[in-house]
Amino acid sequence: MSNTNQNDLRENQAIPTVDGEDYLLEVKNLVKYFPIKGGFFGRTVGQVKAVDGVSFHIKRGTTMGLVGESGCGKSTIGRTILRLHDKTSGQVLFNGQDIFSLSSSELRKLRPKLQIIFQDPYSSLSPRLPVGEIIGEAVREHNIVPAAEFDDYITDIMKQCGLQEFHKDRYPHEFSGGQRQRICIARALALKPEFILCDEPVSALDVSIQAQIINLLRELQKNFGLTYLFISHDLSVVEHISDTVGVMYLGNMVEFAETEKIFDHPLHPYTQALFSAIPVPDPNYKMDRIVLEGSIPSPANPPAGCKFHTRCSKCMEVCKYAAPHWKEVEPGHFCACHLYNDAQEQAEAEQAIPAQAPAAGGKKA
Ligand SMILES: Nc1ncnc2c1ncn2[C@@H]1O[C@H](COP(=O)(O)OP(=O)(O)O)[C@@H](O)[C@H]1O
Ligand code: SF4
Ligand SMILES: [Mg+2]
Repeated sequence: MSNTNQNDLRENQAIPTVDGEDYLLEVKNLVKYFPIKGGFFGRTVGQVKAVDGVSFHIKRGTTMGLVGESGCGKSTIGRTILRLHDKTSGQVLFNGQDIFSLSSSELRKLRPKLQIIFQDPYSSLSPRLPVGEIIGEAVREHNIVPAAEFDDYITDIMKQCGLQEFHKDRYPHEFSGGQRQRICIARALALKPEFILCDEPVSALDVSIQAQIINLLRELQKNFGLTYLFISHDLSVVEHISDTVGVMYLGNMVEFAETEKIFDHPLHPYTQALFSAIPVPDPNYKMDRIVLEGSIPSPANPPAGCKFHTRCSKCMEVCKYAAPHWKEVEPGHFCACHLYNDAQEQAEAEQAIPAQAPAAGGKKA
């Protein structure tokens, strides 16, 4: 496969915006490669293509879920959006402003508006600080409220997150996992954010506690008009909290739609396989699980053509050579897969098949 082909996929991988809609975040063709250093002089000998041209947008006050197997680039997208990583290329617009064009002082001013909640609440809380200080530290630093209102403000934020005033003097190790995540949420909320990146925020918690934290996030979203990018490998959780869902595979988005649409009718064979593994709470229900063969290829050396072709049960000859186009298969439902090519797209894609290859359209051996 030529590079041009992969670039075409990137260029085309956009979800059109709708006039009059209020998008808080717009990600355009975002690319993030990590250099692989090697050899005696520590030269760059390759690139981990963690995010390889991803575009999406999130309307203000809504949640976009981002799913996919471990290592497909979800966290890297999140961290690059927050400018915790430099980008390789592409654009991230927050309220219409490109965050990569901001100076360090402009970025510092914007920081409180963009917050993050991690999977492991314990490691992101300083064990030596009492909870009131953990939540209040950045509030003071960014002058979020006048000094006279500080104590009441922190108490109120803690209450909004299901914590009590007396918890202010306690230390993180005195709390359960769920309460620690409440502390992290309170710390983020106290900065009056507009956007919160939730990176697997409930994956380390017991199932009974997960629901409480999800409900808290939903309630805060309603009360404060927050916008979330919710990363998770747990599809049931994503279905519950998200308005829209993007499915990632090896650095690319392979499908995007409103939650109901994508869960009712997944189009991409990868999404179909992922979704077929969601447990159904009915003992009489026979799961028709599609097992994904093989392991995820390395993002340092992704397969040619459709990156999923080495594991796809529907792989055709063309999939091995041509990267599929990103297209709106049904209104608002986008997917990159040759199964949805029209005749002209198929003919164009088949031009990538080398002359000595078996006839086009053949199934994988
Ligand atoms: N700081 C880094 N340096 C080098 N490689 C990284 C770094 N962060 C992530 N990666 C690599 O990028 C790929 C995507 O990782 P990540 O975004 O963490 O995936 P996910 O969150 O979907 O599990 C993986 O191959 C991972 O090893
Ligand atoms: S393009 Fe081909 S290999 Fe890729 S998901 Fe579609 S059918 Fe499978
Ligand atoms: Mg991750």
